Amino acid sequence: MAMPVKILSTHTTALFDEAVRQAAELLAAGEVVVLPTETVYGLAANALDASAVRKIYEIKGRPAHNPIIVHVACLALARQCAGAWPQVADQLAEAFWPGPLTLVLPRAPEIPNLVTAGGETVGIRWPSHPFIQAVIRRSGFPLAAPSANLSNCLSPTNAQHVLAQLGDRVRLIIDGGQAQVGIESTVVDLSVKPPHVLRPGMIHGESLLAVTGELAAEHEAEYGVLRSPGMLRKHYAPKAKLVLAGWVDEAMLTDRAAALGLNLQHTHVIAHTQVPLSGQWAGVSVIPHDAEAFARALYAELHACDRAGVEAILVELPPETPEWRGVLDRLRRAAA
Ligand code: TXA
Ligand code: MG
Repeated sequence: MAMPVKILSTHTTALFDEAVRQAAELLAAGEVVVLPTETVYGLAANALDASAVRKIYEIKGRPAHNPIIVHVACLALARQCAGAWPQVADQLAEAFWPGPLTLVLPRAPEIPNLVTAGGETVGIRWPSHPFIQAVIRRSGFPLAAPSANLSNCLSPTNAQHVLAQLGDRVRLIIDGGQAQVGIESTVVDLSVKPPHVLRPGMIHGESLLAVTGELAAEHEAEYGVLRSPGMLRKHYAPKAKLVLAGWVDEAMLTDRAAALGLNLQHTHVIAHTQVPLSGQWAGVSVIPHDAEAFARALYAELHACDRAGVEAILVELPPETPEWRGVLDRLRRAAA
């Protein structure tokens, strides 16, 4: 049953062009392909073809109530996907597209119900990764693409992560290198007033507010509120138990681990400032104390922990400042 998966590189012009051609050909035939984006890899299909979009749900095991983001490569195509285009959409597009921002707007009639999960809105994003832009331009239609992982598993930030989860379920994976943003896009709902952040990301609330002038407060504590299904409290999680903690030195970290009943030899530590040096841990990763660098590296670290089969991951709590909001959101969900 399983077909052999093809992985295509893109690091020379000739390889890039050939990969665009093959991806576009499969997409035009109603197939699903894995494409790189700057946030995480996406499992893409023609957004205007309901039977192609159905395959995305099947491959991921995705619940039917979770809508899929539509990817475009110009403003004209974005507007065609929306049933209304308020001025604030132009302002945000002007400021942040192409980039890691998804705008939720009233849907256009040609967007299938499967994409919107039956709802009256559609999420639209113009990604900055040159490969997916080239595929959309060649295809001439928008691409529906959720993250290219099995439902409820970690999002992939490189082609190897995709291969491990979906290698026996897709025909083509395009290797566009390590994702440069590293966590999923910020999702902001423009179908309500004032605009409302449904999923925090690297374009944070204060940046949005500077453009829109008004923004509903994020209900950080209320992860139970299901405005957006991706907002499930437990989400974006590795297999290992993930614990967020602060520590001032290794003795405090060891005490904390003991109090949690963790076996140190099976516990991996991800630190950004207070790095344990004793060698008693399964492993220690250091990610720079910088929100963008941390986001870029985080999922690869969590994937590596899953591959190594560690039982627990202790992550040094990042600051509560706006630029860390997206990272903190993913860590809290992974720890839930
Ligand atoms: O960075 C990203 O957004 C990546 C790349 C591939 O573009 N995509 C991604 O897709 O993260 P997915 O399906 O894993 O997450 C999409 C999130 C979900 O939380 C979904 O509920 C929300 O966006 N969403 C999509 N359309 C929506 C809509 N019309 N209304 C509310 N939420 C929506
Ligand atoms: Mg996802």
